[in-house]
Amino acid sequence: MLLSLLSERPTAVRGEGVWLYDADGRAYLDGCSGAVAANIGHGVAEVADAMAAQARMVAFPHRSQFHNEPAERLAGELAAWTGGQLPYAMFTSSGSEAVEAAVQLALRYHAARGDAERTIVLSRRMSYHGATLGARSAGGNPVRRAPFAPLLHDWPQVDAPYCYRCPLRLDPGSCGSACLGSLEDAIAAHGPDRVAAFIAEPITGASAGALRPPAGYYERVRETCDQFGVLFIADEVMTGAGRTGRPFGHQHWDARPDILTFGKGIGGGYVALAGILCTSEVAEAVAKLPGGPGIGHTFTDTPVAAAAGGAVVAYLREFDLIRRAAQLGPQVRQALCDLAESHGGGIVGDVRGEGLMWGLELVADRQRRTPYPAHARVTARLLAIAKRHGLLLYPAGGGIDGSLGDAVLVAPPLTIGDDDLAELLRRLGVALDDLAAELAVDAAATTPVR
Ligand SMILES: Cc1ncc(COP(=O)(O)O)c(C=O)c1O
Repeated sequence: MLLSLLSERPTAVRGEGVWLYDADGRAYLDGCSGAVAANIGHGVAEVADAMAAQARMVAFPHRSQFHNEPAERLAGELAAWTGGQLPYAMFTSSGSEAVEAAVQLALRYHAARGDAERTIVLSRRMSYHGATLGARSAGGNPVRRAPFAPLLHDWPQVDAPYCYRCPLRLDPGSCGSACLGSLEDAIAAHGPDRVAAFIAEPITGASAGALRPPAGYYERVRETCDQFGVLFIADEVMTGAGRTGRPFGHQHWDARPDILTFGKGIGGGYVALAGILCTSEVAEAVAKLPGGPGIGHTFTDTPVAAAAGGAVVAYLREFDLIRRAAQLGPQVRQALCDLAESHGGGIVGDVRGEGLMWGLELVADRQRRTPYPAHARVTARLLAIAKRHGLLLYPAGGGIDGSLGDAVLVAPPLTIGDDDLAELLRRLGVALDDLAAELAVDAAATTPVR
């Protein structure tokens, strides 16, 4: 029996475009691409065909003995997405493994340069980088860390660019990304010669609901990293594969990472495919070490997964889906802002994001930005209500301290058509109204009668 069967959910039997169908014939509009992964939608035959063809040809030539074409071709495609700035790739089977690989590559890079003392990885509060121990160590959500705390590295964390709740109470229009002072402070406090890397999601995903930093933020990250010889790792597991309207999310700013992680949308949900890209400088440094990078797994660079990734990239290109995400972005933002006014009686406090990755933060009092108490389980209730209305949303709550702060992600496949988008917004509006009605009943029940 699957562990996930311990909680109740329908059995999915078919997917087509932005729709999923369960065993009872119910249809669900996938408003979040599953886990922000099904970027080209469900049921794309070209991907299934590419995987089948590769599996028939040769499924497992191990990387210790052979090169293989699908992996090399996909590495070239992804490098081209970076304009050749990150020309080296390695494929893994999950975003968590990609983060592990990125962190280990950073340490190997410094070791190759005689800087083996650089072993600290800085990250941000309210970030998510995966569920393995190294990736979880970089994660900034205290509630997700707590059960495993004895096994995690206690790496320092810096302020998140959470403009709706600015840690410094500044205005994002004029703050000059002052929250990055905490990055500079952390490097100084722990010793500039001890810090290996700074890892950040270009737009924070699941742990806070699409936090987009203020203008100039990533340029300042780049400058700071250069100043102290620290590598910048952009965790693009969620923001990659065109999700934000660029091939990779960091490309909204002038801030090239040294190492980049990808996952989710690259395999489009068809296959477990993730990995890293890095600069020539990083790759060439570690290649000189005895044993090279030394960070592979059994399924690293495996060709069937790469064939699926290649077919996903080809599909994104053929239908110009990255440009479509960029074009839809402002329209979706406006539609969500309108929805926040017309539905839910004011419970949507903030709408933020980019391309087709949007976060809605829900608040008890819009004026004061007061969060709901954690026990009200507002995020989980909105998800459940939306699902009853046949709409799937992704949870992104806990952004304030790990348990406080309710938010959901709206991130449909990049293939979504105008009619389905209108239907998504209609169902979301109904779900927000139902949630607001439920919360009003809760409030009435707890208000003392005079
Ligand atoms: C930014 C980011 N990094 C890493 C991961 C971990 O990826 P995976 O779940 O494939 O291990 C996730 C997953 O949600 C993510 O959003």
